[in-house]
Amino acid sequence: MTQSTQDFLTRRANAVPTGVFNATSIVAEKAEGAIITDIEGREYIDFAGGIGVVNIGHNNPRVVAAIKEQADKLLHSCFHIAMYEQYVALAEKLSRIAPGDFPKKAALFNSGAEAVENAVKIARHATGKQGVVTFENAFHGRTLLTMSLTSKVKPYKFGFGPYAPEIYRIPHAYCYRCPLGREYPSCDVGCADLLNKMFINIATSEHIACLIVEPIAGEGGFITPPKEYYAKLKATCEEHGIVFIADEVQTGFGRTGRMLAMEHWGVVPDLTVMAKSMGGGMPISAVAGKAELMDSPQVGGLGGTYGGNPVCSAASLAAIQTIEEENLLETGRKLGETLRARFEDMRERYPIIGDVRGKGPMLALELVKSRETKEPAPEKTKALVAFCLEKGLILLSCGNYGNVIRTLMPLVITEEQLEKALSIMEEGFAAISE
Ligand SMILES: Cc1ncc(COP(=O)(O)O)c(C=O)c1O
Repeated sequence: MTQSTQDFLTRRANAVPTGVFNATSIVAEKAEGAIITDIEGREYIDFAGGIGVVNIGHNNPRVVAAIKEQADKLLHSCFHIAMYEQYVALAEKLSRIAPGDFPKKAALFNSGAEAVENAVKIARHATGKQGVVTFENAFHGRTLLTMSLTSKVKPYKFGFGPYAPEIYRIPHAYCYRCPLGREYPSCDVGCADLLNKMFINIATSEHIACLIVEPIAGEGGFITPPKEYYAKLKATCEEHGIVFIADEVQTGFGRTGRMLAMEHWGVVPDLTVMAKSMGGGMPISAVAGKAELMDSPQVGGLGGTYGGNPVCSAASLAAIQTIEEENLLETGRKLGETLRARFEDMRERYPIIGDVRGKGPMLALELVKSRETKEPAPEKTKALVAFCLEKGLILLSCGNYGNVIRTLMPLVITEEQLEKALSIMEEGFAAISE
């Protein structure tokens, strides 16, 4: 039995490999809403939300009740052996949530990476093509294919090659650091034409099965493209028979104030990948989209022992019902407005904040040494995260340079908790700006 955090950290160091990262040395005992309590009774306001998993709050009572009820009836039969209600009910629900007024279907998996892998399998099978277009700043997971799709080399890819073949990377619409050195809107969103350029110089469109993109690139720094960007990319994909896949693993289920973030751009993906907050804290993921694509792979080509496990499916149904019945999208929009106003205000006062971006409550602050040079400030970012943790606020950084602070707090955070967290951030910015 663990006595103290120190004892635990020793056991952890002896039993668990170094490669499994820990953003903090918090040892959690319990959690509720936006608060994590550690084994020594210290409380933390959680702006990480289990990396975007608990949009509806830690240990949401509806999800906990659904898990308990389902656990009493059926833990596992394997959907491939004996089917059950929860899998099909969730597939129906996700097919309604996925954008598009065409027939849709959904298949269930366990993790974000596993769902991304399956979306690519489906696209390849349906098109008979192999190439996959991905982006600079992309993050899609840690399996061989998803690591290969991911952009940042250290720590995600370093030493793990050879990578999966047939992956083609183009720049994303990172306006703060425009890949073309232009300014929005006079740029005419020229970065969206880089896909066409790729067809000439790198791989022809006849070779490309799919393009996979996070509406807001999460780990890559909350890169938030201008409103015209995805429509342009989608039009190019349609023209060339390329499946457009939205990876909504981090952006989905209320994170941006919408059920799915691609709604902000008014673009309908062919396939949508979902995970994280879809399960309300349980490991479950999905690919949902055009039935004609989803039905392409042969019988037995999709699935897995645990995909759409009954308990996880019941939790997911309860999580989605909570978002819908408790108006959490509206709550998220209001939270987003408050956060943006506060962050813009901080930017006026602290020159280290170079950019504020995102949608709804999925917001980021990019920290720079100088607003003129935009040189990234990863050391100051680390110092801010450490300062806030010390004061009881869990903050997460991201970005290819590790200089972006992102907000993934539960949408149900109380006004008082939010105020406390923001004042800790203020103190932190003042301290690192000295
Ligand atoms: C956009 C995106 N895709 C895929 C993944 C991988 O999900 P998982 O860690 O559940 O495999 C993540 C995880 O952070 C993600 O943010």
